[in-house]
Amino acid sequence: FDVQGFQTNLIDWYQANKRDLPWRHDQDPYKVWVSEIMLQQTQVATVIPYFQRFIAKYPTLHDLAYADQQDVLKTWEGLGYYSRARHLQNAVREVVASYDGEVPDDPKALGSLKGIGPYTKGAILSIAFNKPQPAVDGNVMRVLSRVLKIEDDIAQPKVKKQFEHYADGIISDKDPSSFNQGIMELGALVCTPKEPMCLFCPVQEYCRAFQEGMEQDLPVKSKA
Ligand code: ADE
Repeated sequence: FDVQGFQTNLIDWYQANKRDLPWRHDQDPYKVWVSEIMLQQTQVATVIPYFQRFIAKYPTLHDLAYADQQDVLKTWEGLGYYSRARHLQNAVREVVASYDGEVPDDPKALGSLKGIGPYTKGAILSIAFNKPQPAVDGNVMRVLSRVLKIEDDIAQPKVKKQFEHYADGIISDKDPSSFNQGIMELGALVCTPKEPMCLFCPVQEYCRAFQEGMEQDLPVKSKA
């Protein structure tokens, strides 16, 4: 597998085709964090206006830390999964209390904050701090299962760890932010669950599923 060729094609494609999304306007770790929490269970189109309102109301980590929790929940209203908002504010308060208001760029410290699991941790480290850390969610598992022809059942929790290991092996050291966002973007725009648009795919030549005509059969996902 030509890791370098894959990285170059993916990153070049991302730079040329990325959507203009509000959380891509700067690398402020606080804003990346808010966006990734909102995007976890909610579609991009729904998140956009909520993200804009939330950041207009709480433009900095300190604004959110010192805000009234009822007001924060009110601003979150309609997005659902309110524990996300409570955990986010509690974690932001912890950053003020323990890290002088600076989002930690250390994986251990970041991962120990409320509501920050392996995916969110990797997303913040790569997008805000440009560190080569995998950020594996359902979209990323779909893309990697096809490119690398991985037939393990992605519904199994331990399989996600294996994907994190594979992602760790192919992530770009030069531009981890564009690499991770490129895989997310590819999963959203080209490598879709049904009828992926392989003819427009920048990494088609590296994709084992495409070579074997089985892109529609991956990933394997049990119901249960
Ligand atoms: N889904 C999860 N994170 C995302 C991001 N940063 N941009 C677009 N879609 C996403």
